[in-house]
Amino acid sequence: MPLMTTTLPMTTADRIAVIGTGAIGTAITHRLLTTGHPVTVWNRTPDRTTTLTAAGAHRAATPAEAVTSATLTLLTLTDYTAVHQVLDTLPPGLDGHTIAALCTGTPDDARTAAHQATHRGARYLDAGVQAGPDAFTTGTATVLYSGDRTAFDQHTETLARLGPPRFVGDTPHAAAVWDLTLFGLWYDAHLGLLRALDTARTAGIDLDEFAATATTQLGHVVTAVPATVSELRTGHHPPGPATLPEHLTVVRQLLTMRAGTTLGDGGLPAVAARIEALLAQGRHQQGLTATID
Ligand SMILES: NC(=O)c1ccc[n+]([C@@H]2O[C@H](COP(=O)([O-])OP(=O)(O)OC[C@H]3O[C@@H](n4cnc5c(N)ncnc54)[C@H](OP(=O)(O)O)[C@@H]3O)[C@@H](O)[C@H]2O)c1
Repeated sequence: MPLMTTTLPMTTADRIAVIGTGAIGTAITHRLLTTGHPVTVWNRTPDRTTTLTAAGAHRAATPAEAVTSATLTLLTLTDYTAVHQVLDTLPPGLDGHTIAALCTGTPDDARTAAHQATHRGARYLDAGVQAGPDAFTTGTATVLYSGDRTAFDQHTETLARLGPPRFVGDTPHAAAVWDLTLFGLWYDAHLGLLRALDTARTAGIDLDEFAATATTQLGHVVTAVPATVSELRTGHHPPGPATLPEHLTVVRQLLTMRAGTTLGDGGLPAVAARIEALLAQGRHQQGLTATID
């Protein structure tokens, strides 16, 4: 549900604070300043705000000063340990203020942060950052927000400065689920590529030649996404390129070949056990999506 704004007014009604001026916080602050927003910044190491104050940001002495000066505060901190520590320093009575944590963490982390913020009267948004600093600088960052829908609606125009904002759920932890799941998808795909390159290299295969075929192979995964989603939705699991017994044969062969390799077997023993359980139910003519039925 992308909310695109094609023509953005120079400023919005928000007063903004950015807490944590590392790579992401710095990029966000520059972006907001260049799109006409006054920004208050706070960083644990004050020296790291110098370029931002030179560019027009106001430096707060404490997180509490930053949050109370702003209608919308963005927490761009290393992790939720830092988020929880900063939230713990805030005073009560933050009604009318929104706090958004743009941080990679678990659903539990997000729920705890939401509790800390709302306990003080603030509205809370959690955000999964699927972008690096450059995307924030150009206003093209993919950020997934969840939590207080009213707060999201109130600040959408400001958040659109960073990239098309997407709201993914009313629970504080929905964004963390999306975020970690998307990271997991990337890790699985990329580590699959690394395992394949490792095996090819060890076998003396020319990596440039292998790479072209690997690209085609990964393309098959990408093009199969809509059909896979459709199979899950309908509960119909056609075999596609292979039936479950055929998959099991290849999975066992891979297990043999991957034994003792640097990155391990990629979780294939669990896949083999799952296929065996499905075969015991007589589901020989189904395809791989049946494994998560
Ligand atoms: N950078 C990326 O490409 C990227 C991509 C996707 C997601 N993310 C996520 O975005 C978040 C921010 O990443 P980043 O790259 O901006 O990190 P970063 O450059 O390492 O900056 C981290 C910031 O957190 C502050 N901090 C750390 N511990 C603190 C504490 N206990 N109390 C107060 N402040 C503390 C640091 O302050 P000091 O200056 O005092 O150390 C610094 O301002 C992370 O959750 C990261 O996983 C980043």
